Amino acid sequence: MNYIYTMLFFAAVFMVAACGGDKSGAAGYAAQSAGEAAPGDSSASEMRLKMQGGQNGTLRSDNKKILIAYFSHSGNTKNMAQQINDYCGGDIFEIKTISPYPSDYGDCVDQAKKEQNENARPALASNVEDMSVYDIVFVGYPNWWGTMPMAVFNFLESYDFNGKTIVPFCTHEGSAMGRSERDIKQLLPSSEVLNGKPVRGSRVKSSGEDIKSWLEGLGFCK
Ligand SMILES: Cc1cc2nc3c(=O)[nH]c(=O)nc-3n(C[C@H](O)[C@H](O)[C@H](O)COP(=O)(O)O)c2cc1C
Repeated sequence: MNYIYTMLFFAAVFMVAACGGDKSGAAGYAAQSAGEAAPGDSSASEMRLKMQGGQNGTLRSDNKKILIAYFSHSGNTKNMAQQINDYCGGDIFEIKTISPYPSDYGDCVDQAKKEQNENARPALASNVEDMSVYDIVFVGYPNWWGTMPMAVFNFLESYDFNGKTIVPFCTHEGSAMGRSERDIKQLLPSSEVLNGKPVRGSRVKSSGEDIKSWLEGLGFCK
């Protein structure tokens, strides 16, 4: 009888070892080399949760802090910024100049052209309190004369965006992103600047589904 109990004991020990009780064995190593968590390895499973493939080969990292900064003169870009905020959460910041742009369309167009010709940096009315806390910064603007308003150039030059992910979006009436993405990349060579999302200003209110599927594709909202 004692012999049978002894044999049963050794059989049980063998089965526990073979079924993963030993995480330092070949199965644990293979899982770790493949980037998978070995069962019960909390640091590895935490890493797996954090690093998931996003679009365009970018890595998606959950719990990243988002800022949505935008400039808007007549409200279209503001509306798009709010839609992004509704979907992604995060903080929202309006880029405003100390002296407001003329409400008359023609006057505004003239002033914007003059500022662009002069490579002006119109003074900004307020600051982001602590830019260092953000990992992902959406930057929104209307297309003015083929690129961002000069106030947005000023905003981008006013902070340290190194290592952050920048997500441009713009509203326009035909020129889409224009040359703005190239300009942002030039201003922020040490940031990851994603492809921008243009939406026609006159259609921004009815573009909810389009905006939502763009955000879904980015992979780091919801
Ligand atoms: C000064 C100025 C310049 C503009 N230049 C362009 C342009 O070059 N290309 C374009 O497609 N739309 C241009 N637009 C149209 C705006 O980009 C469009 O109406 C935008 O949706 C306005 O956004 P907002 O309501 O947030 O200010 C211009 C508008 C203004 C006022």
